[in-house]
Amino acid sequence: MAQVLKGIDWETFQQLRGSEKKEYFTRDEGIFHIIMSQQFDRKLLDEICELTTKIRGISKGNKGVAFLQSLLQGKRAMLYFVQPSTRTFLSFMAACQVLGMQCSEVRDTTTSSEMKGESQEDTVRTFSSYVDLIVMRHPQAGFAERIAFLLNQTRRPVPVINAGSGKDQHPSQALLDIYTLHRSFENYGGIDGKRIAFVGDLKRGRTVRSLAYLLRNYADVKIYFVAPKELQMGEDLKEYLQEQSVEFEERGNLKEVIPKVDAVYMTRIQDEYDEAGESKRIDYSAYYFKKEYLKILPPNAIIMHPLPRRAELPPEIDQDKRAIYWRQVRNGMWVRVSLIAQIFRKDKDIKDY
Ligand code: CP
Repeated sequence: MAQVLKGIDWETFQQLRGSEKKEYFTRDEGIFHIIMSQQFDRKLLDEICELTTKIRGISKGNKGVAFLQSLLQGKRAMLYFVQPSTRTFLSFMAACQVLGMQCSEVRDTTTSSEMKGESQEDTVRTFSSYVDLIVMRHPQAGFAERIAFLLNQTRRPVPVINAGSGKDQHPSQALLDIYTLHRSFENYGGIDGKRIAFVGDLKRGRTVRSLAYLLRNYADVKIYFVAPKELQMGEDLKEYLQEQSVEFEERGNLKEVIPKVDAVYMTRIQDEYDEAGESKRIDYSAYYFKKEYLKILPPNAIIMHPLPRRAELPPEIDQDKRAIYWRQVRNGMWVRVSLIAQIFRKDKDIKDY
């Protein structure tokens, strides 16, 4: 059973800080729901990285593939994605298949009984009657958290993974980004002490928010937020970083920052969140990674992007060995295998293999 929520209602729960909510997302001291980056500490991040590398190794042989597929045979997952997705949807589906799970999906609410007036809460509670895991992408910030809270109070509190919640968070993306950083800097002192530039639409970019939250777990990291002033990082996240003593600077000029960093994390403009076409009034081209920047980027630095991309990261950059965003895509599947394995307490079987 998930930790029973006694003496706390939804309103009180919402007032808690992210780190205080963590206990409601765990079961028997282990991970259960994956809702927000604040629930991860350094020990857990290191365990996820180690487990992911082990899974990748096991999957290289037929015996290993069969072993992984035996781990969650008979378990079922629901992928409820009511916002567009290519990578997250497919990599979660592939991750479930790697572990032998079967998947169902709802990607279009016009095909569900929400069209008959059923609430989203009842819809997701219905899923929990049929499956053992719910992975959800939803336009509303906090919806996955609300579902985790509601399911915790039912007799069938199946785990919920937040696969992107509006402009707010995308924790599994941030975890695959951490794994990518960890692998890239394995021979260069790890993530500790690294300087990372987040570039673009930081105000509405859930991937950068979730990754910035996770970076507080690493020592002496410095973050550069490089964005037009209209799209700079939100005050809530900057306050969090200040409280956690994570050093950061806000910058407007990408070219000046590039020689100073170990990682450049590019993002597209998130114009799907425009209220009145405001993105069109912003000159985003100043936040494109130009080919000439390859000459001033340090030799061991990396270029990341959560994808999908637009003009901010032209395909001509792909050939540079420091461009690792396609590796990020692949890492996403393996990290998601690792997360699902941990939720179902199969990590020990994998470590012992
Ligand atoms: N990075 C990411 O979330 O991609 P998708 O929107 O394609 O899932």
